[in-house]
Amino acid sequence: MRFPKYRPRRLRSNELLRSLIRETHLSVKDLIMPLFVRPGSGIKNEISSMPGNYQFSTDTLVEEVREIANLGIPGVILFGIPEKKDELGTEAYADDGIIQKAIKTIKENVSNILVITDVCMCEYTDHGHCGYVKKDEKTGDHIIDNDETLKLLSKEALSHAKAGADIVAPSDMMDGRVGAIRKILDENGYENTPIMSYAAKYASAFYGPFRDAAESPPSFGDRKSYQMDASNSNEALREVSLDIEEGADIVMVKPALPYLDIIRLIKDKFGYPVAAYSVSGEFSMVKAAHEKGWLDEKAIIMESLTGIKRAGADIILTYWAKDAARWLSSS
Ligand code: PBG
Repeated sequence: MRFPKYRPRRLRSNELLRSLIRETHLSVKDLIMPLFVRPGSGIKNEISSMPGNYQFSTDTLVEEVREIANLGIPGVILFGIPEKKDELGTEAYADDGIIQKAIKTIKENVSNILVITDVCMCEYTDHGHCGYVKKDEKTGDHIIDNDETLKLLSKEALSHAKAGADIVAPSDMMDGRVGAIRKILDENGYENTPIMSYAAKYASAFYGPFRDAAESPPSFGDRKSYQMDASNSNEALREVSLDIEEGADIVMVKPALPYLDIIRLIKDKFGYPVAAYSVSGEFSMVKAAHEKGWLDEKAIIMESLTGIKRAGADIILTYWAKDAARWLSSS
């Protein structure tokens, strides 16, 4: 089809015209802020590879969450750094674990915010893997025992729900974990607690700074046996369809910027709520370039977040949530 009279520039000559035909509107209501919590009190330790992000203790966390809620951001996602790590990641599902305490403290003190919890073992195991590790009897190699891990993850998700989590978000990438978590939640009266699954989670170098923040780098090997290969998109569709079949309410793609095509594919194919996690490496590389004076942080961030939304994300988990909320309200 040809439109001989069409001149695209006619609608670009001033901001009012541009805003009239704008297709994507980023809103503070799209954003979720990730936060790190550790035991203790009065703690606010800046994460060296993620300037402006902190490890909080539960008391300082509440202040932070209050500020986030007051900015109009609808939710936070919590990551815990436990008192002690062990082979079975016991603090992940302890009633008095760090995340369980954090949820309760937030719920007692701040009313207008959703508390989402990351459900995974890597922050709680002494080896830093996302599951239960055993030795292969024949080869002596370390292997992740998928089905044993499901038991631990289910207990963890249930204990988060009991503590008051509004949404649980399994990020481990074990097969069958959404079904296992849905089952245990339903059996215990939490059939209304939604699951946001990290459905298409790639084995990515962009998680580097997070592993400092959460003190969770694997002590041997890598995560390629359970996280996805960056080259694959059909596999992402298979992962998402399994998670939806097993009961996921929201499906996530992670990281965001190098995987915008995956966000779009999933949105078009399933029509489900899609979350995109703009991960630590995406944050830190912009921050570092900003500190060097190489680019305009605000413009880069707003363009990136708009791009993620345009690709089809309904929800964006981002370390830029607070900055973006301020900029959106002043624009
Ligand atoms: C696993 C988890 C990770 C991130 C979120 N959940 C790390 C990993 O899979 O290695 C990374 C988030 C980020 O980089 O910001 N619990």
